[in-house]
Amino acid sequence: MDTVILAAGEGTRMRPLTADRPKPMLPVADRPLLEHTIEAARSAGADRIILVIGYEGAAIREHFGDVWDGLPIEYVEQSTQDGTADALQVASQELDDEPFAVLNGDGLYDPQSLRAVFEAGPAVGAMRVPNPSQYGVLELSEDESRVTGVIEKPSDPPSDLVNTGAYVFPGEAVDWLDVAESERGERELTDVLDRACESTTVAPVEMDRWLDVGRPWELLDANEWLIGERSRAVAGNVHPGADLQGRVVVEPGATVRHGVVIEGPAMIREGATVGPNAYIRGTTLVDRNAQIGHAVEVKNSVVMAGASIAHLSYVGDSVIGPDVNFGAGTVVANLRHDDQSVRVTVKGESVDTGRRKFGCVCGPGAKTGINTSLNVGVTLDAGATTNPGAVVRRD
Ligand code: TTP
Repeated sequence: MDTVILAAGEGTRMRPLTADRPKPMLPVADRPLLEHTIEAARSAGADRIILVIGYEGAAIREHFGDVWDGLPIEYVEQSTQDGTADALQVASQELDDEPFAVLNGDGLYDPQSLRAVFEAGPAVGAMRVPNPSQYGVLELSEDESRVTGVIEKPSDPPSDLVNTGAYVFPGEAVDWLDVAESERGERELTDVLDRACESTTVAPVEMDRWLDVGRPWELLDANEWLIGERSRAVAGNVHPGADLQGRVVVEPGATVRHGVVIEGPAMIREGATVGPNAYIRGTTLVDRNAQIGHAVEVKNSVVMAGASIAHLSYVGDSVIGPDVNFGAGTVVANLRHDDQSVRVTVKGESVDTGRRKFGCVCGPGAKTGINTSLNVGVTLDAGATTNPGAVVRRD
């Protein structure tokens, strides 16, 4: 089935991590997020992928090329990010009158569940959640066999099944794409779904697992999911005096020095170095060519390519962007004394992460001076610097 994947968005809620790349190219385990989405689509039955690219789209095109692992990939450019329905309209020139699938390029989908969506079409992937008001909620027929509509973030949700952004539309849906702008000024695919529900039977297909990776802490969730599924595989240059416990992946070309303790799940990628005497735990990704040095503890974090945390630091529950450099003694706080969940400012608004523990978000190339303290939930912008001894309490 032709599958359109929407990957043109600016990823504003993910800033500053999207300062130098599109959100679908952020790392999840050993590959970009979008590669997992494409892989899930392929195993669900996609035989041709149409990628809608826009913001920093060249990075996507370069990574996947015209054929990725035997699967043909085509690209269409959405010049302005006017919404998901607009993105699909740009792609519709590549579609014929056969049923087609649409996926969000920032969605992690469980492949088996996605296959069920593809097989049931016209259909929408649905996830049962405890807090539906924070999502697009599906309205269902009385016997729950049909979707009758979708409501964005309702205060009184009609069901606990939410829209995962995985759809199978009938071929004629290409004529339903000229929807009006929504209140937030975008042309939305959910309005196209409403039209589909009026014209045909759309089945809700419950998915076992799905993750919308839109905000920085959701990148931790995504890595917890996929690194957590990996088996132990230790290659690379590992000193016999290192202690690797459980499901640890050390890729060929990575170095783990004397005195290092790694409690899996954890992934140390090609070109990365860890130690001597470092401690890594709690589902951590140390991406390509990153450096974790002497007496550094990293817990439940993503340390992106080329970042360096070289001496005497603690990093917990944090997302450290590419080429970030932490001065010696930089310490991240990840727990509030009042035990409330940590809040992060996203597009100027304070948002509850729902995490009791969350540390910091550091944009590409940020640098801290020695003995910097980063308070819970702070963000350092791309290229930001701190002075020695700085105490960072706000973004
Ligand atoms: P969103 O997550 O709603 O938008 P975004 O990726 O731009 O992120 P943010 O809201 O933080 O700025 O979009 C869902 C998917 O649709 C995502 O994979 C990006 C894609 N998309 C497009 O391809 N074109 C668009 O015009 C928009 C708005 C989104």
